[in-house]
Amino acid sequence: MNVLVLGSGGREHAITWKIKQSSQCEKLFCLPGNPGTAQIATNVEGSAKDFEAVKKCVLENNIGIVVVGPEDPLVSGLQDKFVADNELKDVLFVGPCQKGAMLEGSKDFAKEFMVKHNIPTAQYKSFTKDTVGEADQFLSQLNPPYVLKADGLAAGKGVLILDSLEEAKKELREMFSGKFGNAGNTVVIEQFLKGIEVSVFVLVSNKGYLILPEAKDYKRIGEGDTGLNTGGMGAVSPVVFADKEFMAKVEERIIKPTVAGLQKDNIDYKGFIFIGLMNCGGDPYVIEYNVRMGDPETEAVMTRIDSDLLSHLVAAAKGDLTGEKIEISPLGALTVVCVSGGYPEEYAKGLEIGGSEYLSVNNADSAVKVFHAGTKMQDGKLVTSGGRVLAVTVNGNGIESQREAIYAELQKIVYENKYYRRDIGLDLLNYKG
Ligand code: AMP
Ligand code: GLY
Repeated sequence: MNVLVLGSGGREHAITWKIKQSSQCEKLFCLPGNPGTAQIATNVEGSAKDFEAVKKCVLENNIGIVVVGPEDPLVSGLQDKFVADNELKDVLFVGPCQKGAMLEGSKDFAKEFMVKHNIPTAQYKSFTKDTVGEADQFLSQLNPPYVLKADGLAAGKGVLILDSLEEAKKELREMFSGKFGNAGNTVVIEQFLKGIEVSVFVLVSNKGYLILPEAKDYKRIGEGDTGLNTGGMGAVSPVVFADKEFMAKVEERIIKPTVAGLQKDNIDYKGFIFIGLMNCGGDPYVIEYNVRMGDPETEAVMTRIDSDLLSHLVAAAKGDLTGEKIEISPLGALTVVCVSGGYPEEYAKGLEIGGSEYLSVNNADSAVKVFHAGTKMQDGKLVTSGGRVLAVTVNGNGIESQREAIYAELQKIVYENKYYRRDIGLDLLNYKG
């Protein structure tokens, strides 16, 4: 079967790399892909959000299955356009319909869904400009810190956590005045959950689901979880506190009601759900849903799947996962993201990347995998093209030895103002519960 992966980041490189290992995979394409995917697949120019470009690529290359990496095309209704198109309706598609994508596209919709289906989450209320007085009242009933969330997509920046009531009221007004554009027209205010976070990934279909390896993400730019939020600076899988007992609660209390809820609400969901969870004293609460895999979690998670991912994706897209069994490697994965100095604020692009003999993941068995995130070819040279440049993953036993191995590898990558966090996995190494 010919396969098309949509997207261009480290997540898409990792998904492409895993699909490439399948015996069912014939020709493999990425739109637009990156220099990493170009080593293992054919990159096709265009934007994943451009339906006509995607359609042309699918028809020209006799694509049997489309796998969507990022959320934007899904929130814009790409799946619905496939279903409505006579030439595309029989092409298998991994990704939810537009209504399903609202689980990520609207925090208010996601919270309503959770309440309706009895899925544990923080108490909340939603407000608009017209109900700012009620919002103030609700805030004063809560204990600090205060959590404000812009309803719509805000490039990962739409969540504010504030220590004082005054600050919260001020920020609320700024959100209503357009701080996050239209995404902040509605604001969700919710109870602060104290605990430790874990990302759980599920491949969902009409019948059945598969739970992928869980991971922990490191979102802040600075060591010790300090400084600004980023797209993610590293990931570790498995996660020590997500033990059998905890994961059993996650499956019973969260995954099963989520999948059942999608069915009850008639939402056509055949794709990944990424559940951001808070472990509050051993009990899981949903912080957020995403309708895609996480980045950089995917660069860790994919390396721990021993079974045939493409077979799982085909089954999911056909509507029935009950015959599929996922096999997960006992080896752990640790991923560190190499960024361009200055990220997530201003940073330079177009910096030449040296050490390129290491920048390959073609060998599936290699203990070290380098996934490209923000790179491009320019005048025959590999250069940086984004804030997050490369995601390096090491597989092995025990976080200590993985940390040693990965930090040795990271030395080999050379570009101006290279930065990465040196503490990825350290908290789990020292985790006492
Ligand atoms: P989100 O964009 O929903 O993932 O939120 C960004 C981050 O804010 C999360 O990863 C959490 O660290 C934090 N967060 C969101 N909601 C809450 C909450 N109710 N309590 C505590 N932290 C939260
Ligand atoms: N790493 C978090 C995310 O992909 O949203």
